[in-house]
Amino acid sequence: MSKFFALIPAAGSGSRMGNQLPKQYLSLADRPMIYHALKTLSQSPKITRVFIILSPDDIDWNNYDWSAFSEKLSIIKCGGATRAESVLNGLSAAKEESMVDANDWILVHDAARPCLSSTQLSKLIDSVANDKVGGLLATPVADTLKRGDDKSRITKTEPRENLWQAQTPQMFRYGLLTEALANTTEITDDASAVEALGLQPKLIQSDATNFKVTYPQDLALAELILKQRNAQ
Ligand code: CTP
Ligand code: MG
Repeated sequence: MSKFFALIPAAGSGSRMGNQLPKQYLSLADRPMIYHALKTLSQSPKITRVFIILSPDDIDWNNYDWSAFSEKLSIIKCGGATRAESVLNGLSAAKEESMVDANDWILVHDAARPCLSSTQLSKLIDSVANDKVGGLLATPVADTLKRGDDKSRITKTEPRENLWQAQTPQMFRYGLLTEALANTTEITDDASAVEALGLQPKLIQSDATNFKVTYPQDLALAELILKQRNAQ
């Protein structure tokens, strides 16, 4: 039986957030941002272990209390210059540390998506666990799409039929994901690396609450979603 592991790349600096503290540590609903996704992932009975990939220069992790997750948590300081590099380094370090088989599933989840819900996570796992390629949470594009020129003038309205916005977790077997990431550069998600091998990952419909916190104005919305969920 294949096992399920989560891997959270958390070695970014959050440059678009514009705060000195890397965004994964910014306070959100009374916790550092990364706490929320870590909680959802480690509470899943299906997930055996959660690997957190930090920057080798990280000085913030130890300032917080993570004891609630100690049973399932592995901290690895091997982040790289890009997200893809952090994930690839993390995969190799995870294998050194734990019994990870080539056929085991790895769920890669951004530290910057704190609002992942248990329902979305279960839906992904249940929908992809028997898939040959793997898959990811995503939402169908709802807005009308405009292509602009460098003066912000519309050059074209793009059809949005069959267009999706990729989210995380992105779930692939260890062996395939490692091979895919080792063979690509300039990608912003794991699925693109798998696509470059000529494969077609499965899109599992999620919703907008699992958005990526990127800019300062995103914090208030994430806080609202988390506080409302915690109050339920
Ligand atoms: N990430 C990482 N290693 C990097 C860059 C990013 O592990 N070298 C992680 C981030 O910590 C985040 C996820 O990848 O959890 C998604 O990246 P993004 O939202 O772009 O975060 P940052 O790169 O930190 O932000 P920015 O692009 O604004 O600098
Ligand atoms: Mg980035």
